[in-house]
Amino acid sequence: MAITRIDKESAVLRFKSLPSTNDYVRHHIGRGLEPGTVVVAEQQTSGRGRGTNKWTSPPGVGLYFSFYITPEIQPHHLGLFSLAVSVAVANAISTLAGVKVSLKWPNDIFFRDRKIGGILLESVINSGKVEHLIVGIGLNLNNRPDQLPCENAGSIFSITGLRLNKNIVLSRLLVSLNNLFHIVSRQKNWTTTTRNNWLELCHHNMKKVRIFGDDFEFEGRFVGLSDIGEALVLREDEQIQAVAFGRFSLREV
Ligand code: BTN
Repeated sequence: MAITRIDKESAVLRFKSLPSTNDYVRHHIGRGLEPGTVVVAEQQTSGRGRGTNKWTSPPGVGLYFSFYITPEIQPHHLGLFSLAVSVAVANAISTLAGVKVSLKWPNDIFFRDRKIGGILLESVINSGKVEHLIVGIGLNLNNRPDQLPCENAGSIFSITGLRLNKNIVLSRLLVSLNNLFHIVSRQKNWTTTTRNNWLELCHHNMKKVRIFGDDFEFEGRFVGLSDIGEALVLREDEQIQAVAFGRFSLREV
């Protein structure tokens, strides 16, 4: 992977308000925006989540940022790479807030049964090669309960009463992500390490889950991750189904 510095020595572009930091980055690739430049917004007016989800981004209370990298990874490793980003984010938050953060497949950051953060990876693939990868991260930090989108959402503040400084969180996350990108570029076994680390933080390992696709859903037991990070679900007919990234979501039942 071409090493792109995204730690505290990276350039940071700060905006009062943007529709979506991912959209800003996507629009400015090839128009002067350097890889690794971090784009942060105080609020987003059209923050996006995975699929058709929105990401509620009220002013001042959350951290919303994106950057792009030019990774030398195979397209089939993108899912696993997104799991690795989730692990890096979860570990940084756990250390900073002194709490145990967990993960829901594929990229939801959970704290005590509530979603406090999410990761949106968007790639540009050309001739079978990952040309650019946009990494967008949203975290509910200091939101009061009335600043959260739904009952299942939480923030570090709404759950613990602890207010975190957004700039400190950002710089810690950037260091953590930079370390991860070094590991991915240098260590061939990053895929195995990622699967093990992700499973250790998994909120629903060996638990009953329901998988939702566009036109079908089924229940089973979450039993692990495939080589490329798909969710492995043991169905009621005893078959293990690999659930691909992108088209499905998972809920614990
Ligand atoms: C999800 O949980 O579905 C992913 C949420 C990702 C939200 C972040 S906030 C910064 C960046 N800009 C966006 O529009 N989305 C991501």
